[in-house]
Amino acid sequence: MLRLALAFLLALPAAAADFPTLGGAAPVVIGHRGAPGYLPEHTLAGYELAIAMGADFIEPDLAITADGELVAMHDDTLERTTDAEIMFPGRAGGYAVSGFTAEEIARLTVRPTGAASTTRPGFAPRSDRPLAVPTFAEVLTLLSAYEQETGLRIGVYPEAKAPTSEAQLRAIVAALKAAGRGGAGGRALIQSFDLDALRALGPIQAEAGTAIPLVALGAAGRRGDAFVLEQRGGAVSLEEIALFASGVGVSVSRGALSAEFVAAAHSLGLAVHGYTLRPTSQVESDRITAPLIAMGLDGFFSDYPDLTRASVDAWAAR
Ligand code: G3P
Ligand code: CA
Repeated sequence: MLRLALAFLLALPAAAADFPTLGGAAPVVIGHRGAPGYLPEHTLAGYELAIAMGADFIEPDLAITADGELVAMHDDTLERTTDAEIMFPGRAGGYAVSGFTAEEIARLTVRPTGAASTTRPGFAPRSDRPLAVPTFAEVLTLLSAYEQETGLRIGVYPEAKAPTSEAQLRAIVAALKAAGRGGAGGRALIQSFDLDALRALGPIQAEAGTAIPLVALGAAGRRGDAFVLEQRGGAVSLEEIALFASGVGVSVSRGALSAEFVAAAHSLGLAVHGYTLRPTSQVESDRITAPLIAMGLDGFFSDYPDLTRASVDAWAAR
C-alpha cells in the first residue's frame, strides 16, 4: 500500500533525489491547518494560500456536525477560532461542534489566532467564503478546481479528530471516494491519534472499495531495542502500527525522534511525517528542518508552508 502511495509522492515536482526518505523523493510539505502562520486556520483562504506557497498536501482536521456533515475544525468546540459566542449568544448546551448543524456553522467566521491576520498582502482567495468554516466537501471541491486549472496535483490529508465515530469515519471515506481520492495512490491520506479509529477504517474501506493509506499519530519512542509510537494510552510498537497503517506522524518537539527511529519505521515500510514546524524566519526554518531531513523524515506538517518548502528545496540544492 505504501509503495503505491509513494508513486504519487514521487511524482511531485521534487528537486534532485538523494533524500534519505523511504522512496528517495523530497519530503512532502503539508499545509498544517492551511497556512495558520498567515491566515485563519482551517479556512478555504488558508488552504489556498498553503497551495500557493508550495504545499504538496493540505491538512483539514475534521469534526462532524449534529446533522452529519464533516467540517474543518481542530477543536471539538467552536469558541477558540470562531465568532460562535457572538452569533449564538448564550447557546443552550454550549458550543460543541457536534451540537450545531452545518447550516448554523456556515454562518460563522473564523478568526485569526497567533500570528495570523485576516488578509495576506498580494494574495486574493478565489473562494467567496474565504474565512467561513468550510465543509470537507467544499475543501475537496477547492482542490479539484485548483487541479483542473493548474494541472498540478495537491494531496489532502484529513485527520479524524476526537471524538471519532463510525459516522465520521464513514463520511470521510465516502467524501474522498466521491472526490476520486479513494485509491492507494496517495492523493489522500487519513490520519488520527485514535488507533482504534484507524483499525476501524479497515472494514469501512473494504466495504467502500477504497484503499486510502492511513497514518497513526503520536510521538516517537523507544522501549529497550524496540521503537514505539507513544500515545496517551501507552506505547504501541511500530510492528503493530505497520499492520494497519502506512505511516506514522510524530511530534518533532516531544518524544525520542531520531535517525534510528526513522530507519526502524522505514524498515517496516512506514513513512514518517513530523508535526508541527512553526519557524519564524527562513533562517530558523532551515536550521530546524535540515537535521530532520537528514534523519530521513518523509514529510512535514508546517504552519508556514512557504518557509518549509524553501528549506526542503534548499536541502536538495545544497
Ligand atoms: O496531524 C498532525 C498534527 O496536526 C497534530 O496536531 O493538534 O494540530 O492536529 P494538531
Ligand atoms: Ca491535525
